[in-house]
Amino acid sequence: MSKRSPYSSAAITLHWLIALLVIGQFIGIQYAHGLPEGDPSTGTVYMIHKSTGITILALTLIRLIIRLTESFPPLPVHMARWEVILARGTHILFYLLLLIVPLAGWAFAVTPERGLDWYGVLPIPALPLSGARDVLHDVHEIAAQGIFYLFFLHVAGALKHHFLDRDDVLTRMIPALRRTRG
Ligand code: HEM
Repeated sequence: MSKRSPYSSAAITLHWLIALLVIGQFIGIQYAHGLPEGDPSTGTVYMIHKSTGITILALTLIRLIIRLTESFPPLPVHMARWEVILARGTHILFYLLLLIVPLAGWAFAVTPERGLDWYGVLPIPALPLSGARDVLHDVHEIAAQGIFYLFFLHVAGALKHHFLDRDDVLTRMIPALRRTRG
């Protein structure tokens, strides 16, 4: 097995950074929902959720540009047609949801009356879509649930590749693992 990953280090870094931030979003919003009514930290917790969501949107756009411009490794040849469709479908849906969820959140939660300072330092303007706030709120929640379920499918796929198929699909996203096994 070659020790160098066929992914660029930018692609790998963005993959793990976005994954960590998305997991943080789910934990953070659960925490926010558990806060007692009127808790003084509520505003800050939501500000962090919104700011991190905007950050994920920006990182996803960069990740997409890299995905569309750099060469990327092919899927292993042993995969059946349905597996290829499932893998590619999961990835495309991930990209779509990682754009839709933060965009819907931005559109419903940032309004001219209730603005957002990104981590308290950079004013974020309202999107012109905020007329349909209720629908966008629903889109945000339902699409976020989609990310949640997709996450388990994605991890299950990665583990199947590693432990059952014993190919390099997982290790090419974890260069450290590659070095120890190389
Ligand atoms: C990828 C990025 C994001 C993820 C994964 C995410 C995830 C979530 C989740 C899971 C919920 C809870 C939904 C529920 O109650 O069932 C939520 C709620 C919320 N999100 Fe996000 N979010 C993201 C980005 C954003 C952005 C960019 C904003 C605004 C700028 C935002 C604003 C909100 C607000 C205000 C709520 C609370 C809604 C409520 O409690 O009724 N989110 N988000």
